[in-house]
Amino acid sequence: MVSVARSPGDQQLPKHVAIIMDGNGRWAEMRGIPRVEGHRRGANVVNDVVKAAHELGVECLSLYAFSSENWSRPKSEVRALMALLSWLLPKQLEQMMAQGVRLSTLGDLSQLPLRTQKVLHQAINKTQNNQGLHLVLCLNYGGQQEILAAAKELALQTLISNDPQSFLAQTHLETFRAMMWRNELPVVDLLIRTGGEYRISNFHLWDAAYAELYFDAVLWPDYQAEHLIAALKEYSNRERRFGLISAQVAPHE
Ligand code: IPE
Ligand code: IPE
Ligand code: MG
Repeated sequence: MVSVARSPGDQQLPKHVAIIMDGNGRWAEMRGIPRVEGHRRGANVVNDVVKAAHELGVECLSLYAFSSENWSRPKSEVRALMALLSWLLPKQLEQMMAQGVRLSTLGDLSQLPLRTQKVLHQAINKTQNNQGLHLVLCLNYGGQQEILAAAKELALQTLISNDPQSFLAQTHLETFRAMMWRNELPVVDLLIRTGGEYRISNFHLWDAAYAELYFDAVLWPDYQAEHLIAALKEYSNRERRFGLISAQVAPHE
């Protein structure tokens, strides 16, 4: 069992932790082996991180596995990534069931190969009543694409409403978020990126507004529970102010 040492004044644990799992390719290139080997090693790490997140009390873990922009990578790499997903998911299903993991996805699945869609839907259906960690695989996901889709939905709902002007006047940030793919996900509290780059790369743009950001140099295939624990510790010592001042948000004695 892993644990995070708590100290007085610690914030709650993040409810929703999101991870940009970056660095697979470099991990492999450093070893002179094909990039796809890095993806394979990276995929194997996921199980351990899911287990650790659950034991640490995280409710929702979203993992950036394939971005809308990743389609432009060499065809062989894209094909290998999709094949890896189709091969690995059924193998991991047993473990997900044992751990009570509930799987869902974020992104436009319709563009994925049919075989990949099928194994995803099977895993989502099989795990739908599980009560443990909510694992969100972000596949063919782009934050800009998600916001654009919500904007289109808003336009459509406005067009068909009886009073478009008051409909728009009543559309607030929360109602707009409810039109997004993420409508059933808790807001991201902590956004981690591995691999040493300092960018968001189109992940969770809407929730990134006030997510705490944590950049870790470790390459994803080397990621372990201890890295997650370090991120959670750092999070627990941050003060989230949401535009207020410290005196307004500091916990009362
Ligand atoms: C992240 O690792 C995994 C995917 C994008 C699918 P990368 O493949 O981007 O690894 P680097 O950044 O090239 O090392
Ligand atoms: C982000 O990593 C996407 C995933 C981890 C799935 P990338 O490697 O695609 O991001 P960039 O190209 O370095 O910004
Ligand atoms: Mg990368």
